[in-house]
Amino acid sequence: MLSHVGTQTIETPRIILRRFKIEDAEQMFNNWASDQIVTKYLSWGVHKDVSETKKIIDSWVGEYENKNFYHWCITIKPTGEAIGDISVVKMFEDTECCEIGYVLSRKFWNKGIMTEALHAVLKYLFEKVGFYRIQLRHDVNNIASGKVMLKNGLQREGLLRDADKTADGKWHDVVIYSILRDEFEEGNQ
Ligand SMILES: CC(C)(COP(=O)(O)OP(=O)(O)OC[C@H]1O[C@@H](n2cnc3c(N)ncnc32)[C@H](O)[C@@H]1OP(=O)(O)O)[C@@H](O)C(=O)NCCC(=O)NCCS
Repeated sequence: MLSHVGTQTIETPRIILRRFKIEDAEQMFNNWASDQIVTKYLSWGVHKDVSETKKIIDSWVGEYENKNFYHWCITIKPTGEAIGDISVVKMFEDTECCEIGYVLSRKFWNKGIMTEALHAVLKYLFEKVGFYRIQLRHDVNNIASGKVMLKNGLQREGLLRDADKTADGKWHDVVIYSILRDEFEEGNQ
């Protein structure tokens, strides 16, 4: 049985995960939403201007009152700059399972930041909300994303053929990973 608590602030050694605010629009646009290299493997394309970013943040802000909405802005210490996004993108209530997605500003890549963010969110979703299984998926060519999953103890389950489409309409194979609550707890003793 899940006990939903909504998006609450999480702090780790280097980052703070908190709810998005409309004031994050400029940094979200400049740091990741306008960067074609960042969005290369994503289902959404670059925002054409900051008003598009404001619109999407506005829709998330409206959703925060729902206790089953999990969507964090990743901010870096000590400046508090908004550098990325991590969220529950799919939920399967009956089987107490969810899927996480994430994106990070290119200037912060390869410093272990998303590995740290994913660990914090897995802990939150397993321990506070009570999920039994958490899954993640990535474009077969997005090696860095697969590494973040492996570094968090997820297991590769297999390859799904042409299971997702990028914003420009190209189908691509997807690798799917998962971790179960007991495995997460064992790995963190
Ligand atoms: C995927 C992403 C979130 C990773 O975030 P990150 O903070 O850079 O990840 P980490 O630093 O924790 O780990 C990345 C790992 O991939 C490795 N890596 C990066 N690019 C690589 C490449 N082309 N080939 C092989 N390994 C690569 C890094 O060396 C690092 O591994 P290491 O710790 O063993 O050295 C980030 O690159 C990103 O936002 N990409 C664009 C959006 C995206 O693809 N989101 C995921 C959709 S599924």
